[in-house]
Amino acid sequence: MKEDAILKSITNEMQVGVIVLDKDALILYANPFFLDSFSLKSDIKGRSIDEILKGTGIVRAVKSFLATKGSVGTAETAAQDREILEGKRYFSLRMVPSEGGSLMLFLQDVTEEKKVEAIKKDFVANVSHELRTPLASIKGYSETLLDGGIDDKDTTLEFLRIIDKHSTRMSHLIEDLLILSRIESHQMPMVTEPLDIAELVISVAEGLKKQGDDKGIDISIDGGSDIPKVLGDKVRLEQVVVNLLDNAIKYTPAGGKVFVTVARDSAEVRVDVKDTGIGIPAMDIARIFERFYRVDKARSRELGGTGLGLAIVKHIIQGLGGRVWVDSKPAKGSVFSFTLNLAPDAT
Ligand SMILES: Nc1ncnc2c1ncn2[C@@H]1O[C@H](COP(=O)(O)OP(=O)(O)O)[C@@H](O)[C@H]1O
Ligand SMILES: [Mg+2]
Repeated sequence: MKEDAILKSITNEMQVGVIVLDKDALILYANPFFLDSFSLKSDIKGRSIDEILKGTGIVRAVKSFLATKGSVGTAETAAQDREILEGKRYFSLRMVPSEGGSLMLFLQDVTEEKKVEAIKKDFVANVSHELRTPLASIKGYSETLLDGGIDDKDTTLEFLRIIDKHSTRMSHLIEDLLILSRIESHQMPMVTEPLDIAELVISVAEGLKKQGDDKGIDISIDGGSDIPKVLGDKVRLEQVVVNLLDNAIKYTPAGGKVFVTVARDSAEVRVDVKDTGIGIPAMDIARIFERFYRVDKARSRELGGTGLGLAIVKHIIQGLGGRVWVDSKPAKGSVFSFTLNLAPDAT
């Protein structure tokens, strides 16, 4: 392959926009990625960039570059990087002066990176906020004790209980964060093995009966019959069922009921956790599986929640190739459901 042909196929195939301008800012060359990015036809050679991309951030960047450099083209003129917003897309633009006053532009779509960056920033802000609240209480109450509050036994006991409650919440939050990060970073890959999901659900639900009793909530379990084995990760699925049942108990007032059912659904097994609790307003349903999203932050905190339980559930179920969803009506109750695939030789 000749060098020219090699260069041509590189510029044709690369996922970076390339455009070359002559000293009068007329287009000498544009590669297919650039043309596609701006829905342009290929016959733009010889036309001015100002006319082709009128009003765009690229034109503004090129103009200001030319203005600051006077005439481009001197080999000493340094390259410059800019970030520009075009509609809803972010581009990183590199402008490189070249021989004879020409200017090469390299344009990379960084929209996805920007999104990930924004999610990360948001996440860090959320975590800091979630940790700051209990920490402020712990500090406040311990300072009061140190300042003489400790002389009174009843005050001391009450304050220590509050401190204990907030530190428990902090440790739950950190545990949940670690679980999420391990799942997301694939540090702890899912172990998939044929699993008796009915047995798992029954044993988890039995284990949470006391928590229900303490609150005056009756938990009934229907483990189905002849439920085939599914492909799953035992420890992770226990976490899923605990999180769903814990929510069902937490968000159901005393005297309410929780039903857990396991049933075969064609080529899947489906688990439903139904409650007669407070339900979820329609406008919140779409966001309920997001990290830290809660209908009522104050109530969730009061109940010791971290806002991460459903995010963990979603990650695990989707990681196992299943689906998870909720059906809910305020003041009537909620049904959280998930499915799992049958193990290969299950019938
Ligand atoms: N069974 C349920 N009934 C009513 N609301 C629920 C139920 N399960 C979850 N929610 C809502 O979804 C939110 C997120 O749940 P989750 O991620 O487990 O966080 P947490 O329970 O720590 O607040 C809860 O704060 C609550 O608003
Ligand atoms: Mg929860």
